[in-house]
Amino acid sequence: MAKKMWAGRFEKATDKEVNDYNSSLPFDCKMYSQDIEGSIAHSQMLAKQGVISSEDAEAIKTGLLSIKDDIESGKLTFDSDAEDIHMFIEEELTNRIGDAGKRLHTGRSRNDQVALDQRLFLVDEADEIVELLDTLVDTLIDIAKDNLTTYMPGYTHLQRAQPITYAHYLTAYIEMFRRDTDRLNAAKDRANVSPLGSGALAGTTYPLDREAVAEDLGMHGVTLCSLDGVADRDFAIEFASACSILMMHLSRLSEEIILYASQEFKFYELDDAYSTGSSMMPQKKNPDVAELTRGKTGRVYGDLISLLVIMKGLPLTYNKDMQEVQEAMFDCIETIKAVLPPFTGMMKTMTIRKDNMEAAALNGFTNATDLADYLVKKGLPFRETHAISGKLVHYCIEHNTSLEKLPLETLKEFSPAFEEDVYDAISLKTCVDGRSLIGGPAPETVKRYLDSL
Ligand code: ARG
Repeated sequence: MAKKMWAGRFEKATDKEVNDYNSSLPFDCKMYSQDIEGSIAHSQMLAKQGVISSEDAEAIKTGLLSIKDDIESGKLTFDSDAEDIHMFIEEELTNRIGDAGKRLHTGRSRNDQVALDQRLFLVDEADEIVELLDTLVDTLIDIAKDNLTTYMPGYTHLQRAQPITYAHYLTAYIEMFRRDTDRLNAAKDRANVSPLGSGALAGTTYPLDREAVAEDLGMHGVTLCSLDGVADRDFAIEFASACSILMMHLSRLSEEIILYASQEFKFYELDDAYSTGSSMMPQKKNPDVAELTRGKTGRVYGDLISLLVIMKGLPLTYNKDMQEVQEAMFDCIETIKAVLPPFTGMMKTMTIRKDNMEAAALNGFTNATDLADYLVKKGLPFRETHAISGKLVHYCIEHNTSLEKLPLETLKEFSPAFEEDVYDAISLKTCVDGRSLIGGPAPETVKRYLDSL
């Protein structure tokens, strides 16, 4: 085992088991590029401030860039007993450029370094996730535009309630995902400040230019308390929380896809390329993509809960417990990135059975409210018309028919106010077209909303 950089006050080498237990290199190696980026910004600033020579800063930069190249080409691998990615890169740098490498860590601690790396990593990944989510939203917008007059039942309690359109249904999810995008961007924004200069916990006596480093790294500011700078992992928690809400939405949509693709609903036919078969039952076509998405929601919630519990009892400032934050954060990011592309593909490729959707909208007395509203327009009070409509529904159930199929004489037995125009008033088209307030299902309203996005 290589001698530890901090070995000065120790008489013994680290136990092998402890070394392995302690090491975060197997997972924090993911942040090599952010670590290098941060080190270059830090060392360039050190030179500008006269803390190290510009020759040393140039040697450090060249050395770090060559390490980055070698990692990316596979020439340099992470099989090392280094304690973490920060030590790994610094050791490698010193091997390559000698004494100048030993000046890199001036005015810095791994405590502010790791906080920076995680923030930079999260900012990069947030952009990617937001882009994947944008693609899903764009897909839903396209499908919605093609289905402005595709009627389906809207449900409450999973009972047919009132007619809507498939486009209107999709706008519900578009709204959820737009809020998710806002939340992810807000979490990213709050993460995007530099903790460098916080040192181990109490800042440093070197004349660092913290703002210049932040600017160099594309961050919009610096953390304002050195203790908080090294001890804060809110950014990871906020991000995992935005991801959890996003997964909750994807899971609700998944649940409906699973239901709607069943033989009982038959609203959807999943594309063969986005479903799977059974090893035993030849007829099966299973909605695995949706089911896995629903399942992975539990996993992302787990990441969020891990983060909250890891942090909840920690005294200020840095504690090694915080190393555990990384894997939960990485898992959350990787899971979301694995979920979104196949999910979008599934939505894009599935066939919508408009005939079955419309038949379901026609068959569940979804126009019973409109029948009551019709009588209100004829001058009756709503509480009375609600009762009349309810009695008519009961009559229809007993006679195995539907409201719009009842002859006018029958309707008149329930209320003399019924006239020939009732049939138009309770048609699917009228029911949907009439709900044209902002947010309603009327095709014109939904189209205006979609066009506004
Ligand atoms: N690998 C460590 C982590 O992720 C880096 C910071 C180590 N700092 C320390 N004081 N031991 O938390």
